[in-house]
Amino acid sequence: MKFDTPATNNPIDQLKVVGQPLDRVEGPLKTTGQAPYAYEWQDVPGRMAYGYILGATIAKGRIAAIDTAAARRAPGVLAVVTHENAGPLGRGQFYVQRFLAAPEVDHYHQPIALIVAETFEGARDAAGLVRARYVEGRGAFDLAAQRDTAPVAQRAPFGGPPETAVGDFEGAFAAAPVTLDETYTTPDQAHAMMEPHATIAAWEGDRLTCRTSIQQMNWGLRDLSLALGIPKDRIRLISPYIGGGFGGKGTVQSDLVLAALGARAAGRPVKVAMQRPLMFNNTIHRPATIQRIRIGATRDGRITAIGHESWSGNLPGGRTEPTTLSTRFLYAGANRMTRVRLAVLDLAEGNAMRAPGEAPGLMALEIAMDEMAERLGLDPVAFRILNDTQVDPEKPERPFSTRPFVECLRVGAERFGWSRRSPRPGAVRDGAWLVGMGMAGAIRGAPISKAGARARLDARGIVTIETDMTDIGTGSYTIVAQTAAEMMGVPLERVVAKLGDSSFPETPGSGGQQGAPSVTAGVYAACTKLREAVAHRLGFNSADVTFADGEVRSGNRAVPLGQAAGAGDITVEDSMEYGDLSQRFAQQTFGAHFAEVGVDAYTGEVRVRRMLAVCAAGRILNPKTARSQVIGGMVMGIGAALTEEMTVDKRRGFFVNHDLAGYEVPVHADVPHLDAVFIDEVDPTMSPLKAKGVGELGLTGVAPAIANAIYNAIGVRVRDYPLTLDKYL
Ligand code: MOS
Repeated sequence: MKFDTPATNNPIDQLKVVGQPLDRVEGPLKTTGQAPYAYEWQDVPGRMAYGYILGATIAKGRIAAIDTAAARRAPGVLAVVTHENAGPLGRGQFYVQRFLAAPEVDHYHQPIALIVAETFEGARDAAGLVRARYVEGRGAFDLAAQRDTAPVAQRAPFGGPPETAVGDFEGAFAAAPVTLDETYTTPDQAHAMMEPHATIAAWEGDRLTCRTSIQQMNWGLRDLSLALGIPKDRIRLISPYIGGGFGGKGTVQSDLVLAALGARAAGRPVKVAMQRPLMFNNTIHRPATIQRIRIGATRDGRITAIGHESWSGNLPGGRTEPTTLSTRFLYAGANRMTRVRLAVLDLAEGNAMRAPGEAPGLMALEIAMDEMAERLGLDPVAFRILNDTQVDPEKPERPFSTRPFVECLRVGAERFGWSRRSPRPGAVRDGAWLVGMGMAGAIRGAPISKAGARARLDARGIVTIETDMTDIGTGSYTIVAQTAAEMMGVPLERVVAKLGDSSFPETPGSGGQQGAPSVTAGVYAACTKLREAVAHRLGFNSADVTFADGEVRSGNRAVPLGQAAGAGDITVEDSMEYGDLSQRFAQQTFGAHFAEVGVDAYTGEVRVRRMLAVCAAGRILNPKTARSQVIGGMVMGIGAALTEEMTVDKRRGFFVNHDLAGYEVPVHADVPHLDAVFIDEVDPTMSPLKAKGVGELGLTGVAPAIANAIYNAIGVRVRDYPLTLDKYL
């Protein structure tokens, strides 16, 4: 099916099931422990063996010699995989990292061996007997030191160009009566998802089945096929339940590749969970950035020049952090420039983490907007409203498909009680606490991609949907089931959603907040075909048929849906593809975040007191699961603002705080009441469901809203995240 003209009225618009705040359909399986996560599957044929990954203890250089003899002789050891016996190993396409040092070492904790044994403890013990001798090279680990020599990025980051220019930025900035030129820094951040990367790999002849934890099945198949050098059609990935990903499980990591190699070497199924202390330096992370923002405006607050330059680092060939993405779209201004530069650093790979680019980009831009509002003597909400644009500022002939940004700002200001904010910093005190309010705008792209689904109707009237879409805790099962229920006119209980299996029809999976709109459109396409097949079987004219209350109706005839299936199931498959609507319209999601903080006047301790998010993301398919995603983003934003930072040892080249004791994510005591509301809108340019994703939007803008609230509380501006108390004293 092809979607190339804006959606009109269709079965989804009944909104009997879609749009309802329904509980997660798989929730009981998870809360009762019956949903198997990657490491937990019990039904794998063969006797399970356990793999343990050994990471390199240098950041750059090569392995001169690796002695595994003692490890091989240890009790219960079945195999030791190193570069010496692994055979040729490729890289994936989305990540540049190599899965095994071979023998060059590219970063600290890059795997140098997988030890396979009868037990996990046996494998771990034997890992301690492996002796590696290294020749250490000189690495670069300090982004600030590399900044001046970093070239403009070559590789387009996530679709955006590395450089953009409109009008005469430098001239307009020099001529502007009110200007700002400030530099902001964001640290290396870890995904720190609850479930570690984990895989059970099993071979049957030359066919490989991996139960794993991965967000995007299609990328996983492709990248595992590239890594192992075997065709995709000999690999099956199974990943129906995922304990969080945040982009860190976008595609193949070393647990998956090494489990496959270990299983081949041992001739047994092998399970590998990446031990937590390895994850921070072994897998990808969100790289640190340095961002220079320049804004020029007229005295009455109209932006005439806006410039955003950014530096990040990566392994050779890696991506740049595309921090400038949002600056291209969020505010008006005739003269504009953005540029991302990329330094080579010998740290673990930097790559996608929830709202890549946009989250750290707004951490800079939205403090700059707050500073600029103050210089202009304008209220920060009013300053943003004044500089709204309804067309793409780089391509004025291209309108936004929908852009209720001003409405988000107004609704948020009203609901939060913004009018009670004192514009003068340090003016409000509550005992020992200095109290401030801050806000920030939010924007995140709304991509959508081809997605397929299989739909089956059986004689009981049960509709089964199969797609390789994943659910990373987001609610995919539920919105897939809701879409099918609406299309087929059955209650939710009569739909079975099966996800996370690469043998099912392909979707883009969970990433780039495109999963929800993409997969539901695929389900729409498959169910449209199923409706036609049912009508055809009953001899109904498909133009004049309705599906409601578990029946198929045409004229004065009504047939129970199960009866329509008759003796044999009806199974169909289809996908949704797209025309050029995403070129004709700028498709984005918008939001506004408001925060109130208290800062201890004596210690500088910051406590978030309350927060509000107002989001616009087209039709909200399920307000309950969507809200959960937004408040999850807000919690992550509290971490980004106040605590989360991987500290680089710039001499030895690794992230020092590589566990959840040292890498501080917010805990319950850090999180106050969070309020999230949605603007009532639909976007007919997206798909027949008129929906966009919200999973990444909820994070963008949170940290700068907190930063601006701290400034309002105490009058000290810190431009270096995380905003820890030492920076305020
Ligand atoms: Mo997201 S970082 O595109 O999983």
